Amino acid sequence: MLTFYHEFRRTPGGQHTIKICRAEACQAMHTQELCRHAQDKLRVKFGETTADGKFNLEAVYCLGNCALSPAMMIDGDLYGCVDKERFDDIIADIDRGAAA
Ligand code: FES
Repeated sequence: MLTFYHEFRRTPGGQHTIKICRAEACQAMHTQELCRHAQDKLRVKFGETTADGKFNLEAVYCLGNCALSPAMMIDGDLYGCVDKERFDDIIADIDRGAAA
């Protein structure tokens, strides 16, 4: 039952939650490439937390930002047109405590 609700966890999550959209408009704009990159960069699969406890990585299905696909959300902040380089820049900013 608990696993049905994606916002609930059995164990503590990371400090920041990254949600990457995997729905149709984002698929058309290469979100699969972004998803692979995010998993490789953070060394986690979707639904997991990084070893240092900083980031949760989650898949979502439309963030209402289809016009700026591929889209992602981190801690409630929405990002559009996210490619691999932009993803790395945003994560680096958050990692060093800078506002994204
Ligand atoms: S399909 Fe990705 S934001 Fe709508």
